[in-house]
Amino acid sequence: MSDLLIGQTLTFAADPFIAGAGAARHDSHGGVLVEGGVIRAVGPASALRNAHPGARVHDYGKRLISPGFVDAHIHYPQTAIIASWGKRLIDWLNTYTFPEEMRFADPAYAKQAAESCLDLLLAHGTTTLCSYATIHPASVDALFAAAQTRGMRVLAGKTCMDRNAPEGLRDTPRSAYDDSKALLERWHGQNRLSYVITPRFAPTSSPEQLEALGALWAEYPDCLMQTHLSEQTEEIEWVRALFPEARDYLDVYERFGLIGRGALFGHAIHLEARERARLREAGAALIHCPTSNAFIGSGMFDMAGLKAGGQRVGLASDIGGGSSFSMLRTMASAYEIAQLRGTALHPAQLWWLATAGSAAALGLEGRIGSLAPGKEADLIVLDLESTPAIAQRARNAETLWEALFPTIMMGDDRAIDETWVNGRPVARPAA
Ligand code: GUN
Ligand code: ZN
Repeated sequence: MSDLLIGQTLTFAADPFIAGAGAARHDSHGGVLVEGGVIRAVGPASALRNAHPGARVHDYGKRLISPGFVDAHIHYPQTAIIASWGKRLIDWLNTYTFPEEMRFADPAYAKQAAESCLDLLLAHGTTTLCSYATIHPASVDALFAAAQTRGMRVLAGKTCMDRNAPEGLRDTPRSAYDDSKALLERWHGQNRLSYVITPRFAPTSSPEQLEALGALWAEYPDCLMQTHLSEQTEEIEWVRALFPEARDYLDVYERFGLIGRGALFGHAIHLEARERARLREAGAALIHCPTSNAFIGSGMFDMAGLKAGGQRVGLASDIGGGSSFSMLRTMASAYEIAQLRGTALHPAQLWWLATAGSAAALGLEGRIGSLAPGKEADLIVLDLESTPAIAQRARNAETLWEALFPTIMMGDDRAIDETWVNGRPVARPAA
């Protein structure tokens, strides 16, 4: 049995940072035919209705059908400490984050946190995430098990730390290698799951641990590797003191083989010219976490300069440093930060970042992030008039972008009417 979703459809044929807003493919009476978890056809609603008379029709009227959002950097174990007041990065980690991550020694706690995080994300229209777990291997099992139950495409890894973290939240070079390898062997490629090798960041790993994880990545080069890079100036000073031999922050990772096309560098705000050149040459992906960068006071990511320089960029919530589960709110924050730097990002660029751009940053452009035959059917249906304030602004819009931008700037989970995962609508929890 196939399902035919009808409404406005929006997807991208190319990167609008390169090809302009004309890269968008918008159909005000479009359709998406889904069967067996996969998109089989995309086109005008009437043509699809005629060609597939047996399909179950879901007529969403003027609502917008988009690929589900892709959150390219999140810490699911920080779900419960989102919106913790008053600290910058290092104090924030020590005061709020590490005590909370300690609780994941209890697998039952990890299970409920994973389920809560995934359900919140689905309600906000996020269908794929790339997450850090905690140092506890069972925290990875908990997330992947919850993802499997929901049929979600999820990437994640055990966070590795062997210094500058409290007792109970430290592993060793050996155990980080062994535990990561065992988890990778258990989960990578199962259903829709991918293992990501995850040194937290340079300050919490010894050179021996970074070396061990570099060796592990060399053994499994098709895995991604995620870490943090140049988020706050104090952090950069600390890295300089811990690794005096390194040319710059990125060089710490380079020295241990932790750079390449499969590398995901969260934040990447205060980059030097050499680092930019090396990141570009390696084809690594930079993950912009705008609500987090504003909330923790980290700085203003140079979206325009980095994209113009040919960098691969994804977009992310960075929960719990980030202050919203919503990729709409995350797009709004990216817009505001770019404005502060003198660039107005086009709604097409923002939407691309939250869907196809983040999918490409994760190397998943062949599977998710766009509406095209053969792509996995992770879809969202948006109400572009989800609150009175948005509705009064959107109602008089003459173009798609005018209609969409108020939802980008003011929308939240109320704008997400329906989320489809792997070809099925997600049951909404009772209110
Ligand atoms: N740098 C190292 N760990 C973290 C984290 O958990 N959140 C953020 N925002 N930055 C980090
Ligand atoms: Zn992070």
